[in-house]
Amino acid sequence: MKRLALLLFILGFSFAHEHGKEQELTLKQVMQMVSLSAQKMLYGFMLSNDALIMEGAKEIAEHPMPKGGPLQYIDPSRREEFLRLMPSFERQVHGSAEEVIRFIKEGKKEEALKAYTDMLQGCMSCHELFRDRIRGR
Ligand code: HEC
Repeated sequence: MKRLALLLFILGFSFAHEHGKEQELTLKQVMQMVSLSAQKMLYGFMLSNDALIMEGAKEIAEHPMPKGGPLQYIDPSRREEFLRLMPSFERQVHGSAEEVIRFIKEGKKEEALKAYTDMLQGCMSCHELFRDRIRGR
C-alpha cells in the first residue's frame, strides 16, 4: 500500500517536473494530470485507501487552469457554446470531487463511489461535445 502511494507520488512528481510550473500547462496537459488523479482515486476505491481517494479528489477539485485559459484550445466556431456549457461541466466535476472528500470523511463509502461516477460523467459530458473538435487534433 505504501509502495503504491509512493509510486503514484513519484509519477505525479515527474509529471509536474517534466511540464514545469502549473500555469504553464496546456489544456491537454491539465487533462492528463486530472486523468492521473482520477486513476489514483480508482486505486483508492479498489484498495479501500481513503487517503489515496481524497488525494486524487483534492487534485481534481483544485486543478490548475490551462495556460492562457481554456477557450483558446477550443475551435473558434464552438467557443460560444463552450463558454455557455463549461460552467455546468466544471460544477459537476468539482462539486462531485468535493462530495467524494466529504463522504469519505463521513465514512460513507458507497455515496463516495457514487459521487466518483458522477464526477466521471462530468468529464465525459464535456468530452462528448468538445474533445474531437480541438484545433490541431
Ligand atoms: C469543460 C470540458 C472538459 C471537462 C469537464 C473535462 N475535459 Fe478532458 N478534455 C477536454 C478537452 C477540450 C480535451 C482535448 C484537449 C486537447 O487535446 O487539447 C480533453 C482531453 C482529455 C484527455 C486526453 C488528453 C490527451 O492526452 O490527449 C483526457 C485523458 C481527459 N481529457 C481526461 C479528463 C478527466 C479525467 C476529466 C474529469 C476529471 C476531464 N477530462 C474533464 C475537455 C474537458
